[in-house]
Parts: sequence; C-alpha cells; structure tokens
Amino acid sequence: MKVTIVGAGAVGASCAEYIAIKDFASEIVIVDIKENFAEGKAMDLMQTASLNGFDTLITGSTNDYSKTANSDIAVITSGIPRKPGMTREELIGINAGIVKSVTESILEHSPNAIFIVVSNPMDTMAYLTHKELGLAKNRIIGMGGALDSARFKYRLAEALECPASDIDAMVIGGHSDTGMIPLTRLAVRNSIPVSAFLTEEQIKAVAEATKVGGATLTKMLGTSAWYAPGAAVSSMVQAIACDHKKMFACSALLEGEYGLDDICLGVPCIIGKNGIESIVQLDLSDAEKENLHNSADAVRVVNNLLESVS
Ligand SMILES: NC(=O)c1ccc[n+]([C@@H]2O[C@H](COP(=O)([O-])OP(=O)(O)OC[C@H]3O[C@@H](n4cnc5c(N)ncnc54)[C@H](O)[C@@H]3O)[C@@H](O)[C@H]2O)c1
Repeated sequence: MKVTIVGAGAVGASCAEYIAIKDFASEIVIVDIKENFAEGKAMDLMQTASLNGFDTLITGSTNDYSKTANSDIAVITSGIPRKPGMTREELIGINAGIVKSVTESILEHSPNAIFIVVSNPMDTMAYLTHKELGLAKNRIIGMGGALDSARFKYRLAEALECPASDIDAMVIGGHSDTGMIPLTRLAVRNSIPVSAFLTEEQIKAVAEATKVGGATLTKMLGTSAWYAPGAAVSSMVQAIACDHKKMFACSALLEGEYGLDDICLGVPCIIGKNGIESIVQLDLSDAEKENLHNSADAVRVVNNLLESVS
C-alpha cells in the first residue's frame, strides 16, 4: 500500500504522521513544490519511527512525481489555507490551478490511484478533479464531512459533558461555514437521541458552533487547523487501504442521488478498497432536504467560478 500526499504543509504532514502511527501502509511519499521541504518533513517523521513504533517508509520529493509512481491512494493537500476572516471559497483563484496540475501529474504516474481531495474550496476542488481527470466517480473523494462530523461530535460531547466516543453524529452538505448541515435529528449518545439530554436551544448552539468550527480555529491559530483534518484524512485512507467499508460523510459526485446532479457534495458514503463503494441514501426530512439543496446551490456558485480561474 503506497500513499502519496501532495503538500507537505500543516495538513499534509499531520496526515502523514497519523497514517504512519496507524502502521497500515508500506510507503508514504510526500511531495511539495518548496525545495527540500517534503524531504525535511519526511526525514523528521522517519526519526519518530523507533519512538512511535511504525514500519512505514516515508520519503519526500520536491516536485518529482516519478517518486510517486504506482501509488494506490493520493491525498491532495497542496494549496493555500485561509487566514482569519477569509472564507474557503476565496481560495479558489490560487488553488484551482494547483489542484489541476498536481492531480494530472499524479495520474500520469499512478493510473490506478484513488484521489482524496482536501484543498479548499474542497467541494469545488473535488468537482474540478472529476472534470479534469474524467475518472470513475468512486475514485475521487472529497474530504470535509469526516472532519465536520468529528467537530460536531466534539461539540455534542462538550454540551453533554461526556466523551466523544459516546456520540454518533454526522454532518452532510457543502464544506463551508454556511453550507454544512449537522444532522441534529439523527445525533445520538449511545443510541439515545441527543434531544433527550439537550434543549432545542442547546442543540442549535452546538450546530452553529460546528458550522464555524474551522473559522473558530483559523481565528485562534492564524491559519487553518491541521490535527483533526490530518486525522480525518488518515481514517479515510485506512478505510480504503484495509477495505473497511466504513461510512463517512464525503464529497461525492452526485448523479441523481438526493435529487442532485453534476455536483460534488457531502453525503454519507461507504469507503472501501474501491474508494466510494456506494452512496447511502438517507431519508431526509423536508427541512433537511431544503438545506441540502440550498447548500448545493451555494457550491454551484463557486463551481461556476472555475471557468474564469482555471
Ligand atoms: N477539506 C478540509 O477539511 C480541509 C481542512 C483543513 C485545510 N484544508 C485545506 O488544505 C489545504 C492545505 O492546508 P495547510 O494548512 O496544510 O496549508 P500549508 O500552507 O501549511 O501547506 C500547503 C502546502 O502546499 C504546498 N504547495 C503549494 N503549491 C504546490 C504545488 N503546486 N505542488 C506541490 N505542493 C504545493 C506548499 O508549498 C505548502 O507546503 C488548504 O487549501 C486548506 O484550506 C482543507
């Protein structure tokens, strides 16, 4: 199992670290455009191998994609992150060109790779990757919902004063401050609806805090977060590598599912060795359906900018 991570920045390095610590991949190649940066991150991580007890080989490369040849999975984290006060959508001008060129380079050397797109605005970057590479829809997965769902669980656990492992909950919709849809109706603590423990007002506050989870951290850190994004990606990579057939909310190309077409949007997906093994059709309430379609409309506005920037 060979995994390439493009972008040796905060998210790419965190992702490499979590994959290595979980010790299921034989090889990780990190690629960055910045001279020696990926090599340095790879060497630093390799020096944790004896301490953290993993056998994964991690190497770095400055823009030499021949080193990524025959990767099974490629994670795309290259591009700029947002600064405090910025939306993810504002990154499109720079990131579209980067995502287009790096995904093409990966495919050239790894014709069978499954792509996990992380760079923002993620739903649009996943859509761009579909349009440019023309691969089967199972092979391109946008990562956003796995992170947003983890943040939702964190906020629920905080409100319930319980461990996050007690919580099961999911966020669907676009990976943006206004497009996320925390499915509060379906959130549970050990199979009991959270509405049994929290007031409507508390649940609403949890949902709002979830939606701005990324912006909150960007304000605190001065750049966007990396630990939870890296951990979320590593869980998806592991589900593919180990054929777990685990459910994650992912940005998938929709072709009629949920009444939507020609768009990448966060919906529950089964993730296994083929990437997206299937899209799970939830029986949404009318309000949830309306929110999902509004979220799709907002993503389409950003997708429409692609023609002018890429
Ligand atoms: N989808 C999500 O849930 C999620 C979560 C967090 C961050 N992100 C996004 O992930 C991206 C990376 O965030 P970060 O915090 O790691 O940023 P970062 O600035 O720390 O790292 C980005 C890296 O990409 C590299 N890069 C730029 N152009 C490149 C190219 N053409 N080829 C190879 N490498 C290139 C840079 O040199 C840099 O090292 C951002 O777009 C951010 O918004 C997405």
